Amino acid sequence: MFDSIKKKFTSEGNETAGTTSKPDISREKSAELFAKAKTYFPGGVNSPVRAFKSVYGTPLFIKKGDGCYLWDADDNQFIDFCCSWGPLILGHNNAKVREKVIEVMQNGMSFGAPTALENELAELIVKNNKFIEKLRFVSSGTEAVMSAIRLARGYTKRDKILKFEGCYHGHTDSLLVKAGSGLVTFGETSSAGVPKAFADETIVVALNDKPAIEKAFEEFKDQIAAIIIEPVPANNGLLLQEKEFLQYLREVCTKNGALLIFDEVISGFRLGFEGAAGYYQIKPDILTYGKIIGGGLPVGCYGASAEIMSNVSPDGGVYQAGTLSGNPVAMAAGIAQLSELLRMGFYRDLNNKTEEFTEAIQRFATARNYKFKVFTIGSIFWFAFTDQAAIRRADEIDAASMNKFKKLHRELLNRGVYLGPSGYEVGFISSAHTKIDLEKAKRAIFDSLEVVFREK
Ligand SMILES: Cc1ncc(COP(=O)(O)O)c(C=O)c1O
Repeated sequence: MFDSIKKKFTSEGNETAGTTSKPDISREKSAELFAKAKTYFPGGVNSPVRAFKSVYGTPLFIKKGDGCYLWDADDNQFIDFCCSWGPLILGHNNAKVREKVIEVMQNGMSFGAPTALENELAELIVKNNKFIEKLRFVSSGTEAVMSAIRLARGYTKRDKILKFEGCYHGHTDSLLVKAGSGLVTFGETSSAGVPKAFADETIVVALNDKPAIEKAFEEFKDQIAAIIIEPVPANNGLLLQEKEFLQYLREVCTKNGALLIFDEVISGFRLGFEGAAGYYQIKPDILTYGKIIGGGLPVGCYGASAEIMSNVSPDGGVYQAGTLSGNPVAMAAGIAQLSELLRMGFYRDLNNKTEEFTEAIQRFATARNYKFKVFTIGSIFWFAFTDQAAIRRADEIDAASMNKFKKLHRELLNRGVYLGPSGYEVGFISSAHTKIDLEKAKRAIFDSLEVVFREK
């Protein structure tokens, strides 16, 4: 009884929940591992965002994931909304995926020769996604995009690519390019080591900026091979575009003999089995998919009509290859995961759950007049410290607001909720997040927001 009274008056009890900042969780073991990792890897990591540069403290070294939960090296437990940056739409350690992987692994892990598993995964995709007739498996999203760009250039016999500021397409040279100043700009490289000559082939314009696109096609008449866009830009906040703008891109490409590439590494199989193309009912010429089709193992693919894909080697002159492409273990994970996604009502349930969750958070913030918006689509969400009703362009994000995210991130970790370690990253909900988990997460988010907005 004493315990229950005590609980009532601590920060864990409902009555007084969230009124104070929580003490930091222990990160002792993670800190030790990080110190060691720094002796092996640049910045101590194998992908930069993992270094926690935009948030407080040492990166958490993860020991285990199960369902919607993660455990770090210090045995802290979190409800995970990063989901390995999206692919874990069924949550961690899904039994069906795990069992299929184990079954296939018994027969060996790589042959460098075709297997029936590649056919099986391709069939699942092609039969249930009207936007693709043929595809090629690769091992990452970057590789999928790099290959799609080469295919577009080979097919159109043109060199230039038009991309949008605020869209990320992996780290292929010609796309590590950011806008310069001016309406239509040749890109400036956004990474050392990218030759200026490569960036010169990439035109960068702002999202939702039709005049800039018109001007680009005028200025570079018959030179633009493709427009590439994340139809749901989800790497620089969640810059939701209007369908009408995406439709316009379709038309402008058709009119100018350029190809439209939808980079669906995030939105593919997330908004629905047909991704953003299906959601908006707009047919791109080439699609790229990534991690989600590997159920957590390294897979990507690019696909298009049979006619466009006939340009890829060995049928056509666009060379592209990969020792581990179509790797049997990765195919097995993909088959198990995509089969689950095809279950009746899968997306309806997941999207409804996300809607309830995000609406509750928005209601909470609005009732308290917090300058805070939850942008969401499908099972993706983004917390933005803004009062703008919509943010469609990268330059509409207030960089100073990221300081508030930093505080939110810390408060949430201390309350057992894991978000990607940057305010520009989106969150994901999986089918493993139960209503009870989401209730717990909501409480933590409410309490954390109270702390963040109370501080000046
Ligand atoms: C839209 C988009 N394209 C491409 C990539 C690159 O994928 P990967 O990191 O698997 O190379 C990403 C990565 O998150 C992405 O979000």
